[in-house]
Amino acid sequence: MSSKQIFTCEAQLTAFAAKIALFLEPGDVVYLRGELGTGKTAFARAIIQQRGSADSVTSPTFTLIETYHLDDVSVVHLDLYRIESDAQMEGIGLRDYLDGRWICLIEWPDRAPRMLPDPDLTIDLAYEGKGRSAVLIATKQLSDRADWPK
Ligand SMILES: Nc1ncnc2c1ncn2[C@@H]1O[C@H](COP(=O)(O)OP(=O)(O)O)[C@@H](O)[C@H]1O
Ligand SMILES: [Mg+2]
Repeated sequence: MSSKQIFTCEAQLTAFAAKIALFLEPGDVVYLRGELGTGKTAFARAIIQQRGSADSVTSPTFTLIETYHLDDVSVVHLDLYRIESDAQMEGIGLRDYLDGRWICLIEWPDRAPRMLPDPDLTIDLAYEGKGRSAVLIATKQLSDRADWPK
């Protein structure tokens, strides 16, 4: 399943991301791709905030990883833009978050392709005039869920 959305402002992107958040389940892996500034962190933040009362959602640009224990799920948010080696990737301990209990949001997955699980959902963000676009590619497993926005 693949579909394209256009967001003329950040609030539109946030509202859409909040809807997607409701369909995600523990164990889901979401790739967020796109150039700097296309809204990957904004999308991730909206997902995290929709699923619980996280006080603040900061970009893991420098920490590489942030974790959130939310209302009914835990979320791990990675930003691999600054990953420099496989060893650094090992140091993150991503394996610990692949036990089926976490929703895993990964910005810049292309930086560590061999080290990552396959995605259940890929969100490709891009500049679209003054706004942004998002192409969503979901596995059948995910798009077969009731009420997935087709
Ligand atoms: N339609 C839009 N959707 C999302 N962000 C937008 C939009 N228009 C402008 N922006 C701005 O673009 C920036 C996106 O930043 P961010 O989410 O950190 O991007 P990335 O993580 O992809 O580098 C923010 O400053 C946000 O305010
Ligand atoms: Mg970011």
